[in-house]
Amino acid sequence: MRMVLEEEKKAAALAAVKHVRDGMVLGVGSGSTVAMFIEALASRVREEEVEVLCVPTSYQSVILLASHGIPLTSLVEHPTLDLTVDGADEIDPNLNLIKGRGGALTQEKIVASSSKEMVVIADSSKLVEVLGVKMPLPIEVIPIAWKTVAKKLVRLGAKVELRYGGGKVGPVVTDNGNFILDAKFPRIDQPKTLEEKINNIPGVIENGLFVEMAKIAYIGRGKVLERKQY
Ligand code: A5P
Repeated sequence: MRMVLEEEKKAAALAAVKHVRDGMVLGVGSGSTVAMFIEALASRVREEEVEVLCVPTSYQSVILLASHGIPLTSLVEHPTLDLTVDGADEIDPNLNLIKGRGGALTQEKIVASSSKEMVVIADSSKLVEVLGVKMPLPIEVIPIAWKTVAKKLVRLGAKVELRYGGGKVGPVVTDNGNFILDAKFPRIDQPKTLEEKINNIPGVIENGLFVEMAKIAYIGRGKVLERKQY
């Protein structure tokens, strides 16, 4: 199964790289599927001499892009991007997303929202009928506020955990120096309303609901979802 999903991610990455045109300024997401997209982008840069500038969304994407010699830029130099390509943790039929398993949701959301188009790449395990059924919703919080934010999320109906990780003791610290709460809702029927409610809690930096942001999603081998009104 794992092998099949890896092949699906690669197929999605190869489909997305066809959207890249010479001279584009790209937003580049984070995660294992995006790592495959960066490989595919590097091949186009090398073999077709396509010239692009990339705005990364995490230290992971900075390091991967730089290792291929793909030039980096920022939202200061390029506040409007032509295209962003990113992965997802859950994708619903309206192309709303949960993102942030890799902890990069805040920069990913800033970059996607600065982009004329967002293309999502994922394997088929990411498709859900309703957001929240499989994955917790990641929420980036100011460290001193994690407990008070967690209590307010419980009142909204979630089971909440402070994210811990490998490589250090204590909680995961994001690329922006914050903590991540993983909030498991039974299901998220109204993602826009929940996104706004959560972002209204003092101490919340951003949450991983991406509502009406993606234009097209390549899911594994050959499945394409497109949002009609964009
Ligand atoms: C990073 O914070 C996430 O939003 C990723 O884009 C998401 O977790 C998808 O990652 P994979 O491609 O590794 O599944």
